[in-house]
Amino acid sequence: MIKIAPSLLSADFAKLGEEIKKVEHAGADLIHIDVMDGHFVPNITIGPPVVKSLRLVTSLKFDVHLMISNPADYIDGFIDAGADIITVHAESCIHLNRVIQSIKQRGKKASVALNPATPLSALDCILGDVDMILLMTVNPGFGGQTYIESMTEKIRELKNIITERKLDVDIEIDGGIDINNIFKVTKAGANVIVSGSTIFNAVNTRQMIKELKEKAFDEDKLEF
Ligand code: DX5
Ligand code: ZN
Repeated sequence: MIKIAPSLLSADFAKLGEEIKKVEHAGADLIHIDVMDGHFVPNITIGPPVVKSLRLVTSLKFDVHLMISNPADYIDGFIDAGADIITVHAESCIHLNRVIQSIKQRGKKASVALNPATPLSALDCILGDVDMILLMTVNPGFGGQTYIESMTEKIRELKNIITERKLDVDIEIDGGIDINNIFKVTKAGANVIVSGSTIFNAVNTRQMIKELKEKAFDEDKLEF
């Protein structure tokens, strides 16, 4: 089952509530919220007060992607605000296992993200403890970037490791996804697909999400 998670980073920030309703009615499965602090990544976005306000406009799950330094300090704040899935970057956590535990102790789904340059070996000791792995397919910080081709093999390798270890871990892909490359990542093993500019720049949002879901399967419908 493929899930589409529109990234609010490409939404109109003057009307975030309406933008969420728009993608919800258009068939989104999750709302992906990119949190940036100007330290871990060269951009600044939103924090818990905004997430708390947005919580009132939808019942869709909030997939909160923390691109911040010291994420452990902010996990309770984002959960209190309404986050359902919390993703922390392996590169930003000295005590990654502790951070994962603190998310799970609050009854939320824990996910770990890797930047494109971080090897899968960073996951060796925590893969059995998480609900999802987010593989960045662009360098984090901005929407609208181009998919990094070498990430397809990384997705495939992660899928193989998860299958070999008989784990139940989702693979989320974030960055540069459009209707022309979505099948490449789903075929490699991804099942949660973040899409910002492709969805929010579309003239017809419903049609775009429908098309992404259709293209996520093989063109001739034989693969899945
Ligand atoms: C990048 C963010 C992504 C980004 C995706 O740092 O984590 O979620 O908004 O945007 P697109 O789909 O436009 O690459
Ligand atoms: Zn993201």
